Amino acid sequence: MITRFLPALFLLAGCSLLPPSQTAREQYFHTQVKPVLQQHCLQCHNGRLPPPSLNLTSRALAFTRSPGGREYILPGDPDCSLLISAVQRGGTHPKMMPRTQVSLTDDQIGMLREWIEDGAFWPEGAAGMLRPQKSAENP
Ligand code: HEC
Repeated sequence: MITRFLPALFLLAGCSLLPPSQTAREQYFHTQVKPVLQQHCLQCHNGRLPPPSLNLTSRALAFTRSPGGREYILPGDPDCSLLISAVQRGGTHPKMMPRTQVSLTDDQIGMLREWIEDGAFWPEGAAGMLRPQKSAENP
């Protein structure tokens, strides 16, 4: 009986080598951050605007500085991240993002703020590749 469960115990031990929060961060990125960026930002920030404009197709391209020298995404500091400043601009600000009829909701902005505050986890490689995705409210 006990020997039957040993392999499972080893598997669990193997998994716990990863800090548990890393898995949570990965999940947060995939279920919260990525869908919002893909639905609301990727139609423009997909490399079509030449650098140093924001390109959100991968981690390496997104973690850069604006023409004015500001970090688009500064892990741990949403208030210094230009991405957050841009989506928080209200009313008729000419540089309010996304540049469409649809603004992000307060919940979506809060989610992005939390993500950056928690280190802005964004996987390298294929897992972290983003592409435009249409949604019901943003066809
Ligand atoms: C319809 C097209 C479009 C969409 C959708 C869009 N943007 Fe932009 N964005 C632009 C253009 C055009 C610029 C100006 C180009 C540049 O920065 O050189 C810009 C600039 C920015 C900047 C730099 C702002 C500044 O003050 O310099 C940020 C940050 C940004 N966008 C973030 C976002 C985020 C985050 C989203 C999604 C929530 C988004 N954008 C959606 C077109 C778009």
